[in-house]
Amino acid sequence: MPCPHLPEGFDATDPDLLRSRIPFPEFATLRQTAPVWWCPQPRGITGFDDEGYWAVTRHADVKYVSTHPELFSSTENTAVIRFNEHITREQIEVQRLIMLNMDPPEHTRVRQIVQRGFTPRAIRTLEAALRERARAIVGEAKRNAAADGSFDFVTRVAVELPLQAIAELIGVPQEDRSRIFDWSNKMIAYDDPEYAITEEIGAEAAMELIGYSMNMAAARKECPAQDIVTQLVAAEGQGNLSSDEFGFFVLLLAVAGNETTRNAISHGMHAFLTHPEQWELFKRERPATAAEEIVRWATPVVSFQRTATQDTELGGQKIKKGDRIGLFYSSANNDPEVFESPEVFDITRDPNPHLGFGGGGPHFCLGKSLAIHEIELIFNALADELPELALAGEPRRLRAAWLNGIKELQVRIPTA
Ligand code: HEM
Repeated sequence: MPCPHLPEGFDATDPDLLRSRIPFPEFATLRQTAPVWWCPQPRGITGFDDEGYWAVTRHADVKYVSTHPELFSSTENTAVIRFNEHITREQIEVQRLIMLNMDPPEHTRVRQIVQRGFTPRAIRTLEAALRERARAIVGEAKRNAAADGSFDFVTRVAVELPLQAIAELIGVPQEDRSRIFDWSNKMIAYDDPEYAITEEIGAEAAMELIGYSMNMAAARKECPAQDIVTQLVAAEGQGNLSSDEFGFFVLLLAVAGNETTRNAISHGMHAFLTHPEQWELFKRERPATAAEEIVRWATPVVSFQRTATQDTELGGQKIKKGDRIGLFYSSANNDPEVFESPEVFDITRDPNPHLGFGGGGPHFCLGKSLAIHEIELIFNALADELPELALAGEPRRLRAAWLNGIKELQVRIPTA
């Protein structure tokens, strides 16, 4: 039944709406009046026979669903509620090879193995290389700025570090990195016509990246080295990943760790430039709480999906087995029950129990520490090298069904 408090036809996965304004003011209405709301979708949008999904908008409910995988499964295309094209059953079967779309106990086995690559020690090992990268990226943006000091922050700064971090993590040789970057960018199938990326181009890029990674795994099995790939595929005694599991894991990293961090950085810069007192505070004090607030503010992943494994109840609603559940992180991160003045960008916010990296539970973002490090490194480099940066235009928003994206953000280094 349509919600009487919402404009007719409101659907928080509509890419045109998402491009125009996030977080939606409608989320506040939903949290107050219908926190678990059946959002009807016209038949055909999702490629399934169903006609909608439950929109879960309160912080507590998003956490509850995320931490009860026995009630809410991840095996039915977790990442996107609305696809840009019709998805087939076969595609969903293939996607189950990616850990994001697995349930325990299978998920537990894979997660225990890949966690080895994300220990605090493993992340610390990357730090010096990434710090240097961050400085080089900012230095290059500065050198290559136009005569009036302007440049696009997204392509010149935000894009590069997340990809370099993943390449560094899995030890992709320097000469192969441009191929990895190209495949990764093509795989993120946009709903934005400007990118002219078809499903076929995306699928082809995914296959090439998987093939490349599988070869890498096979080589390490044959000839072990002192690196993370060897640890994941050739570790003795505690199980390991098969070469194709490794291929799908790299595919997940290229999607999950790439656009998310890129958009956190772009939104963070925009937030600083539109809240100059926060930028001054950051430059002066570099609070350790800043990166978490940037992720809360940006919430790059607007929503993910689960599917009910049995009849159950949520927020007073009767959920039927097979119903799709949309977890709106973007709404949870603005829930006044949890955050004081959520509409305020406050880099000293502490505690900050935002759900930008997920609502807890088995799928909680594996790359959280890496992402936080990247955000800190890039903003530290910007504060040191480009402290006077100014906004030179409104951000151009990405048209996407689940991602809070910025595709262009013109900034300017004052020249006088
Ligand atoms: C999962 C957000 C950066 C790797 C997730 C999930 C979210 C998320 C919302 C799903 C959680 C759930 O379903 O409960 C983000 C954001 C990032 C970021 C906002 C940046 C600001 C990264 C990075 C990496 C990464 C840098 C790795 C290089 C992963 C992986 C998963 C995941 C592998 C799946 C974990 C699993 O299924 O067990 N992330 N992420 N993420 N993320 Fe991130």
